[in-house]
Amino acid sequence: MPISDCDKMVDIATTLPGLKLKNPTILAAGILGETGASLENVAKAGAGAVVTKSIGIEPREGHGNPTFVETEHGIINAMGLPNPGIDNYKDEVESIIGTNIPVIGSIFGADAQEFEILAVEMEKFGVSALELNLSCPHAKGYGAILGHDKEKVLEITKVVKGAVKVPVYVKLSPNVSNIAEIACAVEDAEGDGIVAINTISAMAIDIDMALPILSNAIGGLSGPGIKPIGLRCIYEIKAETELPVIGVGGILSGNDAIEYIMAGASAVQIGSGVYYKGIGIFSKVCQQIQEFMDAHSYKTIKEMVGIAQKG
Ligand code: SIN
Repeated sequence: MPISDCDKMVDIATTLPGLKLKNPTILAAGILGETGASLENVAKAGAGAVVTKSIGIEPREGHGNPTFVETEHGIINAMGLPNPGIDNYKDEVESIIGTNIPVIGSIFGADAQEFEILAVEMEKFGVSALELNLSCPHAKGYGAILGHDKEKVLEITKVVKGAVKVPVYVKLSPNVSNIAEIACAVEDAEGDGIVAINTISAMAIDIDMALPILSNAIGGLSGPGIKPIGLRCIYEIKAETELPVIGVGGILSGNDAIEYIMAGASAVQIGSGVYYKGIGIFSKVCQQIQEFMDAHSYKTIKEMVGIAQKG
């Protein structure tokens, strides 16, 4: 069905603090986010918003090859947060600000001070919101080492919130014993929302070589196999906090997105889905959401958010 026909169906617009989305699909960080032009292509393909690549203070090459392996139920990556550094990313971000959808700036740092510098710069570039990457499972000194510690999450979120006006979302790791507890730290620091989940710490072995396939040995699993874990995490976070949540992990279809919405997500991010289905996944998922809502007489996304929560 062409997008123009889709537009005549039920309204799938959704809102989150500081973000008005024409539909609930968002490009996840790290996929097609290298340049302003690639982000713009995703916008044209129908996404409701895009998240930039995770950007740090200095340029980083990331881990050596291989950085990526496809397994039976998903993809394991250990890119190692390659990025051009905040100063060199300015033009890429600025080139897509003012196009028709919100741009969310993803940042990672080694401590609260680095996050503060990055947040202030990204805000100057004109992003609509920030996503703090506190959850990369395999880049030493960054991500999970901070995001698994609720005191650090509280500190970093508080410092960034004190430094910028745009809404601050925190991307959490599923590789913790209690994700809701970490989400509560974001809420205590007056963060604006949660993005969950980042990838699950994982490995693949080349049995002929008797070695791990990835150069970094350990990477993060994404794709269809992690959807049930993502849903459980959203469900637990929504049971313990009032924060709006953006769901991510293994979304390949409209039904997958609806599962996340019913678990409590107000919007969803798509990452590996682009690898499996191509850039057309955004309009396809929107069309399937609309068809589901039509068939079940839902009028708004909001009506469905969290309805699978008990009690
Ligand atoms: C990577 O660059 O290795 C992935 C980033 C992430 O998992 O947050």
